[in-house]
Formats: sequence, C-alpha cells, structure tokens
Amino acid sequence: MPEEKASRRIVSAAARDEDLALDTSLRPRTLAEFTGQSKVKEILSIAIEAAKMRQEAMDHVLLIGPPGLGKTTLAAIVAQELGVPFDISSGPMLQKKVDLTGILSSLKGSQVFFIDEIHRLLPDVEEVLYSALEDFRVDIVIGQGPGARTHSLPIQQFTAVGATTRQGLLSAPLRGRFGLVLYLKHYDVSELTRIVLRAAKILETTIEGDAAEEVARRSRGTPRIANRLLRRVRDYAQVRATGHVTMGVARTALDLLEVDRFGLDEIDQKIMMTILEKYGGGPVGLNTIAASTDEEPDTLEEVYEPYLMQLGFLDRTPRGRMATDRAFEYFGVQRRMNGLPQRPLF
Ligand SMILES: Nc1ncnc2c1ncn2[C@@H]1O[C@H](COP(=O)(O)OP(=O)(O)OP(=O)(O)O)[C@@H](O)[C@H]1O
Ligand SMILES: [Mg+2]
Repeated sequence: MPEEKASRRIVSAAARDEDLALDTSLRPRTLAEFTGQSKVKEILSIAIEAAKMRQEAMDHVLLIGPPGLGKTTLAAIVAQELGVPFDISSGPMLQKKVDLTGILSSLKGSQVFFIDEIHRLLPDVEEVLYSALEDFRVDIVIGQGPGARTHSLPIQQFTAVGATTRQGLLSAPLRGRFGLVLYLKHYDVSELTRIVLRAAKILETTIEGDAAEEVARRSRGTPRIANRLLRRVRDYAQVRATGHVTMGVARTALDLLEVDRFGLDEIDQKIMMTILEKYGGGPVGLNTIAASTDEEPDTLEEVYEPYLMQLGFLDRTPRGRMATDRAFEYFGVQRRMNGLPQRPLF
C-alpha cells in the first residue's frame, strides 16, 4: 500500500490489530461508564431492570450501527449488568448447523449469547436460530440415512444479542425475532471528548481539555478511532515533548499522521469529490457514487453517508445525493453557476 494511503487508513473505523488490546483495556464495563447513545442506554437499562425483577432472560437485542461505535462493548455490558455469563460467536465462525446447535444446547439459563456480524450467517445456519430465538428449541437429527429422525429439544432460555454493521443484508425473519432493535449513531464531539479524557486517565496520560477535543473532532464520530488517535498522540508527546498532551502537541501529531480536520477517510473524501467535482454538487444517484468509489451502495448508505450527513456535508434528497454549501467550502471547490448538471462534468 502506498505510504500516503496507509497513513490515511488511521481513521478507518474497522478494528485493526493494534486496536485489539486497546479495545479491551479501554472498554467501559457498565452502562454508567458508557458515554453517549443515551436513548439506546435508556431502553437497555429498562429491559435489564425488568428482566432482573422477573428473574427471566431478557428480550433478544439487535444492535445496528457502523464499526467501532460500541456494539460489542454494549453486548458485554448487558451481560455484566444482568450478572449472567457472556459467550461470543459470530456469523463467519458458525459455518455449520451443528456448530450453532451445539452451542445453543449448552447455553446456561438466562445467559447472554452474542453473535457478531450476524448478517453473515449462512441461510441454513440462520434457520437454526429461528426456533431457538422464538421457542428456545433446537432440532436435532438422530441417526443416519432413511432411519434418521428429527427431534425438537428444549434449550435454556437465553438472551441473544446480535450485532451488524449492515442492516440491509439482514433477512426480515431474523430481524423480526429480536424484541429490541437498537441503532447506534456516530458520537458528537462533546461525547467523544469525554471518551478521550476517560481513556487518557486509564492510559495514565495527562491531556488538556482543548487537546482532547481536537482528538475527538478528528475521530470520525467513532470511539475506536478516538482511542487509536489518542494513543498515537501520546506516543508523539512522549518522544517529541514532555509527555503532557497540549493542543499544540495534539495538532502537530495529528497533522503528521495526515488525519483530516474532520476525521474524513479516503472513501469519505472520494464520495464528496465525486459529488462536488464530477457532478457539480449533485443530485447524484447512490449507484453512480458507488460505481465511482468502488464501494457497495449499502456500505455507502449505512457506514459512510450517516457521518457525512452529521457533519452537514451531504443531503439525501428524493432526486439523489447533494453536496451542501459547507462541503463546497471545506473541500475548496467552486460551485458552478449554470444550474445543476445531471451528467459528469468530465
Ligand atoms: N460509548 C463508549 N464510551 C467509551 N468507549 C467506547 C464507547 N463505545 C466504544 N468505545 C470504545 O471503542 C472500542 C470499540 O468499540 P466496540 O468494539 O464495542 O465497537 P463495535 O461497534 O463492536 O465495532 P465493530 O463493528 O468493528 O465490531 C471499544 O473497545 C471501547 O474502547
Ligand atoms: Mg464489535
């Protein structure tokens, strides 16, 4: 990968190897410690309380949202708050029906079973989940050949927590079996600032308020990126300064890493430049943007556009995507005066 591309990728929201240890050590353990997403937290805390009062398994929960916003963290918190065991699996790990049947049959009463990337379950494996989620039963085939029989066996009542970054790829029957369907949104700067300050404390780094805010602003609304940038800024402060993170230190370190002022990554930039330069600001259809950025339309819609809209760079209109005045200004593109072209300008 070219040098420039590699450094831009620092604001990619997907987990990288370097994040794994950091993700774990910085992960909030309780709902109270979990910053932001107030509506999601409120709904979860009511469900948790109700389940505890009734001494039953909590409703199944589906967490939907772009990478790095806290889905895995919240799933673990639910188990922690309920005081029940927590087991993790994922769509790609559950390759065969027997894998899932085996896990489901050994679940403990009321525990949380987390299924990450649930949109990647194969159709026949997914079907096993239907009866498990709905009736707490699994079908087991006993015997082989013509004498084989299917038995429906009861399993312990449990709480499934599913996570997906791609709700467009989720089947309706699966989605319909989750009592709580919750959407995680990108964090605003003040929430991310609090996350950075908390992480700095855990990492035993001193950081000034405005410096924490600068890290937050460039984190693409994503806690995982905020934590990653903080770590790089801390390294810079230790090696090139006194270890204390001031605004000057934060800015210099982030500029060195070529982190955009709003944390935009190369795909965000490609999307905006397509609309701004190639199509004079729009409107442009989603499929056209997908073709020129080499991304799936769903990914654009579910992962990239929400953040660009939150920043006020992009509007979704019935005729297509449009760039805002703010976007023209930020990207330094002149608006053309002769109306809104429908065809590429070059
Ligand atoms: N609300 C929050 N407050 C503080 N830290 C958070 C919060 N949400 C996420 N984090 C931090 O960001 C990291 C990434 O979060 P997490 O792994 O839960 O994201 P995810 O949504 O599961 O991402 P992916 O889609 O890639 O699996 C966590 O380890 C944690 O350190
Ligand atoms: Mg996760």
